[in-house]
Amino acid sequence: MKNSININKEIWNEKHDWEKNGDEWDGQAIKCKLDYEYWKQSLYQNLIHSNIRKNDTVLEIGAGHGRWSVFLAKSATTLILVDLSPNCIDFCRNLFVNRSNTIFVINDGKTLEGVKDASVDFIWSFDTFVHIEKYVINSYMREIFRVLKPGGRAVIHHSGRNHFFRWLGFMRHFGNPGNRFYRTISMCRTNDTDGWRSNISKKMVRNLALKNGLAIIDQLQYWNEKEKIGVPRFNDYITFLQK
Ligand SMILES: C[S@@+](CC[C@H](N)C(=O)[O-])C[C@H]1O[C@@H](n2cnc3c(N)ncnc32)[C@H](O)[C@@H]1O
Repeated sequence: MKNSININKEIWNEKHDWEKNGDEWDGQAIKCKLDYEYWKQSLYQNLIHSNIRKNDTVLEIGAGHGRWSVFLAKSATTLILVDLSPNCIDFCRNLFVNRSNTIFVINDGKTLEGVKDASVDFIWSFDTFVHIEKYVINSYMREIFRVLKPGGRAVIHHSGRNHFFRWLGFMRHFGNPGNRFYRTISMCRTNDTDGWRSNISKKMVRNLALKNGLAIIDQLQYWNEKEKIGVPRFNDYITFLQK
């Protein structure tokens, strides 16, 4: 199944049951052999809390049911939540009904229309870019550059398929044998599913960011190398950007 904008909208707006409002995606913690709440707190401390400063305007792409937005809301002054799913944005509106300075945006799945140029200090996206295609990532990189203030930062979680074999990505659409074959060569050997990861490599994300004027601060799989805490499942990566 292709990772198109329309299919993403159909899945997240209509088909997914959001049984734990995002906490159903505990597979990265399991892969790290960690308790989910411990993994989540570590992510918050290392990737969110440490990146938000007093009075920051923070924007999230693909907020879903607010699994990370509640953490962003603790530190941000103004919080802008963007999602292509009207149902997700409705859910977030209810979640943050009592929070002032919160802006909700139902977008077209590729732009940050309505967000002013050079108005955002920090952009966050987790478990969203992993499902989106190259031209959409390119469009978001352009938009991230546009809306970030000079010196502003972004932290984006994305797929990390093997760059060299990416031309074989068409095999994902050849039923189970093709999908299994491509999963094995593009994600290293695994008995897992492919997590509906798009055909994106760490190098592609790097190139798209650079092409759109952003600097790469870091690209990593584990934010805590010592304790091996990160996003190793499906060979995902996290890219740190700066304008
Ligand atoms: C797997 S869910 C993750 C939600 C949340 N970030 C979390 O980690 O719990 C993916 C979210 O990204 C949104 N999404 C998918 N493609 C998108 C796109 N192209 N632009 C904006 N949002 C998108 C979906 O509607 C959904 O809310």
